[in-house]
Amino acid sequence: MDAGLEQVVAAETVLSDVDGENGRLVIRGHELSALAGHFSFEEVIHLLWQGFFADLPPPDVLKAMLGEARLAASARVKDLPSGLSAIETLRAGLSLLGDGDDLNTALRFTAGAAVMTAAAIRKADGKMPIAPDAALSHAGDFLRMMRGAPPSPAEAASLDRYLVTISDHGLNASTFAARVVASTAAGIGSAVIAGLSALKGPLHGGAPGPVLDMLDAIGTPDAAESFIDAAMARGERLMGFGHRIYRVRDPRADALKAALRLFPQNAGRVAFAEEIERTAIARLRMKYPARALDTNVEFYTALLLEALGVPRVAFTPLFAMGRVAGWIAHAREQAATKRLIRPRSLYVGPRPRVAA
Ligand code: ACO
Repeated sequence: MDAGLEQVVAAETVLSDVDGENGRLVIRGHELSALAGHFSFEEVIHLLWQGFFADLPPPDVLKAMLGEARLAASARVKDLPSGLSAIETLRAGLSLLGDGDDLNTALRFTAGAAVMTAAAIRKADGKMPIAPDAALSHAGDFLRMMRGAPPSPAEAASLDRYLVTISDHGLNASTFAARVVASTAAGIGSAVIAGLSALKGPLHGGAPGPVLDMLDAIGTPDAAESFIDAAMARGERLMGFGHRIYRVRDPRADALKAALRLFPQNAGRVAFAEEIERTAIARLRMKYPARALDTNVEFYTALLLEALGVPRVAFTPLFAMGRVAGWIAHAREQAATKRLIRPRSLYVGPRPRVAA
């Protein structure tokens, strides 16, 4: 029995490799550092989906098709329910997009994640949704739909880098959930919604909002040590630190920190966060000397998305906007094995009485 499945290898994948000892992430043969800032998100979608759709067009055509898919998905925005959180609105919105196993379904869900997230953010503010512009990049169009005004090139580039950085990451909880659903032949849409539901939790993709709440609550670097020690004494986890696989710093943290340098006006905020980060790592090392707990992707995700003006409640939907590319590739890879994922459990409940 292995409750967290740490020691279980449950899939073969050509998609990504997480080397937790050395802090390396390889996505389809490319080091993360060679992808983020060098490949666009659309090019990375193409990279991830290669070999999984017989009719996958070249990257420039795929980009145009994704733009068209944003337009198509926006027709369902009017049906979004009210009174839900941003992530719940996104989940409801994706459920409006049907299901299927083809490239169109894959594009619909990738496009839908951006369109529904932008609409959810505006809806929460009582604002009307803004129609997509199919000619723009996915990242640039998202920011435009969210704000109602075009982003600067640096803003679009930094969001693009974020989406690339988080596009795939081995057999994490949401990807595993997506693969379990895909193994039942339920379809790409169902797999994506399963992935999204797993991503929602604070131990996975729900951490970056609380990272900023923690920075706010700490207020000044002087207060960091006592705040952190008190939080840990209460049994709380420090959001943005620790990882199931990484025993060193998550390489995505530095990729996102590099993207933050595109916003020199934010240098003060980043310097403050770095001080808190140093204190947090030192206190975690003190408490858990045998377990190397370091910064994970969510810490600098929080700062980057904050710099882009994304409201905290929408940080997890933004994560989904990037990770949907990986979920879809994994869903196709799993479905191709034609093997249902069905582990066993160890029954520890009462046994029926045997008649004497
Ligand atoms: N703050 C305080 N203590 C921690 C933290 C943390 N961030 N992370 C782990 N610990 C503690 C655990 O409570 C455990 O202590 P215990 O033995 O007294 O119970 C010990 O360190 C060892 O924990 P691990 O086995 O390393 O943790 P696990 O692999 O189960 O969990 C996880 C990994 C969920 C990411 C955890 O580190 C955590 O909760 N971090 C905070 C939430 C977070 O940042 N989530 C985003 C992760 S990145 C992503 O999913 C995209």
